[in-house]
Amino acid sequence: MLKKMVVMSLPILLFTQLSAYDLKSNMIQLGAELAQIQKSFIASDQEGVEDSIKNFSKHAQELLGNKDSFSAMLPKDKRYKASEAVMSAQIISHNVKIILDAIENKNNQSGIVRREESQRAYTYIEHACFRCHNIVRDEY
Ligand code: HEC
Repeated sequence: MLKKMVVMSLPILLFTQLSAYDLKSNMIQLGAELAQIQKSFIASDQEGVEDSIKNFSKHAQELLGNKDSFSAMLPKDKRYKASEAVMSAQIISHNVKIILDAIENKNNQSGIVRREESQRAYTYIEHACFRCHNIVRDEY
């Protein structure tokens, strides 16, 4: 009986730990990719912004865009907060689009306006990170 319980709980245990690891390593990667965007903006490196925003956007959507898979990575007592992931993913993809549209000059605006708007959009992306971290870490 005991043996059976151990055998049955092992996969659950392993899975929970793997998920926590997944979340952590994915988040660290997202953090590095966001830093790359910031670096490119600071250096006024437009090509760098384009490359890094595309890279970041893909991983942000993969990690945050699916409520169920994000929920599975959260600790049990925080799972009900998974819908925040989707909300943050939406804020992020909205602002990624602002930056990509500016690069392609979709709205036919001056370079100065496009630069200002992209830089502001970058800070909104960062804000989406802070927002969710506050929510998942606050105890109340
Ligand atoms: C939907 C919620 C959510 C969003 C959005 C989010 N994170 Fe996280 N992040 C977490 C959780 C949950 C953890 C791990 C638990 C903890 O550290 O409290 C975490 C941890 C991290 C860590 C630390 C990993 C470690 O433990 O060393 C980094 C770095 C990080 N996130 C970066 C980012 C960046 C950059 C963004 C925005 C692009 C972002 N996160 C957006 C929920 C989120």
